[in-house]
Amino acid sequence: MGGVLLALSLSAASVSLKLIAGVLAAAGLASQAAAQGAAPAPQPDYHPSMGDLMTTAVQPRHTKIGLAGAERNWAYATYEISELRNAFNRIARTIPMTNGSDTAALVSTRIKEPIDRVEAAIKAKDAKGFDTAYVALTKACNTCHETQNKQFVVIKAPSGSPYPDQDFHAGK
Ligand code: HEC
Repeated sequence: MGGVLLALSLSAASVSLKLIAGVLAAAGLASQAAAQGAAPAPQPDYHPSMGDLMTTAVQPRHTKIGLAGAERNWAYATYEISELRNAFNRIARTIPMTNGSDTAALVSTRIKEPIDRVEAAIKAKDAKGFDTAYVALTKACNTCHETQNKQFVVIKAPSGSPYPDQDFHAGK
């Protein structure tokens, strides 16, 4: 019995020694490659399209602002309207031209003011003002879509939360 245990622990020890030896060998190879100036294989660049960014960075935030505003959760809404503003600014940097127009200029003409209005209502904790400004923001999304021949992308206020794991009421 004792002999079996000893044999087992000895074989476990030899496995760990082999592992350590393997790691050391790999480290040696890596430092050799570095010394020879071999660069690691480059990661392919990811270039998101306007549609990718609208779906991932803009649409969920528009939804969340609507849900937080309906709950009068001004703390969260303050955070999320700033996220939306920054998302548009990043889009303008990532995709400088949209259908032949300067994206930053488009963002500035189409959505900056509606975002300012929502932000001001949130800051003032003005529930009615928020409701009006959110309608105007949503309209601005659609106006830009119309001018970009994407009139079939129609945005509206969310009718319910698609986020089962986020509480838009808590944290007020
Ligand atoms: C500066 C103009 C502009 C503004 C403002 C704008 N969009 Fe867009 N949006 C576009 C363009 C252009 C497309 C089409 C992108 C494409 O086809 O690659 C688009 C597409 C979309 C799509 C379709 C993506 C899909 O696969 O279903 C959604 C959703 C969307 N926008 C949401 C919004 C929301 C929400 C707002 C307002 C908060 C908004 N957009 C404001 C220009 C804009």
